[in-house]
Parts: sequence; structure tokens; C-alpha cells
Amino acid sequence: MGDTANPHQQHKIVILNPKGGSGKTTLATNLASYFATRGPPPVLLDCDPGGYSLRWIDKRPASRPPIHGVVGYDRNTSCDNFAAEYPEAKEIIVDLPAAVSSEEIYDHIYDASSILLPVVPSEIDIFSAARFVAELLLFTQLDRGKRNLAIVANRTRQRTKSYNMLTRFLTSLKIPVAAHLRDSQVFVQAAALGLGICEMPPYKVRKDMEQFELIVSWLDRWCSRELDALIAEEIKRNAGREVIAPVAALRH
Ligand SMILES: Nc1ncnc2c1ncn2[C@@H]1O[C@H](COP(=O)(O)OP(=O)(O)OP(=O)(O)O)[C@@H](O)[C@H]1O
Ligand SMILES: [Mg+2]
Repeated sequence: MGDTANPHQQHKIVILNPKGGSGKTTLATNLASYFATRGPPPVLLDCDPGGYSLRWIDKRPASRPPIHGVVGYDRNTSCDNFAAEYPEAKEIIVDLPAAVSSEEIYDHIYDASSILLPVVPSEIDIFSAARFVAELLLFTQLDRGKRNLAIVANRTRQRTKSYNMLTRFLTSLKIPVAAHLRDSQVFVQAAALGLGICEMPPYKVRKDMEQFELIVSWLDRWCSRELDALIAEEIKRNAGREVIAPVAALRH
């Protein structure tokens, strides 16, 4: 994996899951709408030849805060390119399609600061997500120490037995579940209007926004996550010894 803190200080967020329909585009467009509302305009890179994220941008009312929609397949998606093209953007959100090879995944995530894996907690999706996480750790040399991978449980209704199994599995791998998004028509309604749920009437989205903001706050900690992990590792390694100060000094 490349350096988490890329030299351009742009936050590259990759959303992936080889399982179709897990909520990648929903998460990508909602994050884009949230960051656009907060400003400055983020980049939304649509790597799906189907172009669903870009179609969502096309539907977006001209009065809403803008988003830079970029065709993502067939191009170099490294942070260097975006820093030159969109120097003012703080976030680069990458919406990957279901069908991607391990090589393509590596090309997208090697310089990503955050990786989100939306998972629908059905037995079959959970099984495939667990296998995918194991493959990701094995084949892409994803460094768990950098803490840049999180799960988003999407379309949750109730905590099933298989969902509890997934959580135990992820806990054993030290991979956090950033939030649980409900199965809610508000995501479908917002998508149809080219909006994110944060742009819908507040009374309709209060509960959903509470969870959504947990994802944003996990993402916003992207610079400090790696350092926090380093400090925690040092504390564990040197429990009881006076060697924490030099690592803690890195913060300043
Ligand atoms: N939390 C949710 N509540 C209700 N509907 C949802 C939710 N998340 C996603 N959906 C709906 O599920 C369908 C699939 O979602 P989405 O397109 O985001 O998945 P995807 O992972 O991008 O799919 P693909 O693999 O085909 O790219 C869409 O119709 C979307 O509106
Ligand atoms: Mg999609």
C-alpha cells in the first residue's frame, strides 16, 4: 500500500464490493452530496461502465451544490492526476462496479486513504463479504495497521444470526463496522432526484442521518487513523514502559 497521507492532502475514498447491489453507488452518491453541501465540490469517479453515479449527477438540480463527475474506467485513477485536475477538491470518491479483477482493485486502492465495503446482511452477501475481506488482506497487501478499511452494513432490518457472525469475524480481523444504514425508501427517493439523503427534508431522514454521520466522522479521521493505530500498537508492544512519549510527539 502507498502512503496513507498522500502529498496532495486529498482524501481518496474507494467504495467496493464485488457483490452486485450491495449499495456502492448509493453510498458514493450520498457521500458526494454530503461533501458537496459541506464544500468544496468533491470528485465522484464513476468506474462502472453503466455510469449510474454520473446519471445521478445529471439528474441533480442546478440549484444544488456542484459535484465533479468523472468517468473512471479506462483511466489512471491515482491521486496525482486528481490533484492536478481538481486541486480544490478535498475528497475523491471512487464508485467501483461489482465486476472488477484483483489487479484492478489493487490499482484503485493502493493510494486510497479510506476503503468502504457496503454489505447487505443477508447470509449469502455476508459469506461473500467475509471471503472478499480475507482475499483483500491476502492479495492486495492491504495493511490492517493503517485502519483504512471499514464495513457499512446496508439495508439492515434486524440483527440476524449470520450478521452477528460477520461482526465477530470482522472484530477478529480488527475491521470496524462504521454504521448501519436502514432499508429505507428515502435512499431510493433521494437517488431519483439526484440528491443525497442529507438534502431531503430533515424530518424524513433524522434516523438515517444519525448513522450516515458516523460514516462521515470515520472518514474525516483519515489523517489521524494511521497515527492512532501506530500509537495503540506502540502502547501494546511496550506496555508498562516509558517509551510512549516519542510516538505521541509525532502528533505535534
Ligand atoms: N439503504 C437502502 N435502503 C433502500 N434501498 C437501498 C439502500 N441501499 C441501496 N438501495 C437500493 O438498492 C439498489 C442497489 O443499490 P446500489 O445501486 O447502490 O448498489 P451497487 O452496489 O452500486 O450495485 P452494482 O453492484 O450493480 O453497482 C438500488 O435500487 C438502491 O436504490
Ligand atoms: Mg453501483
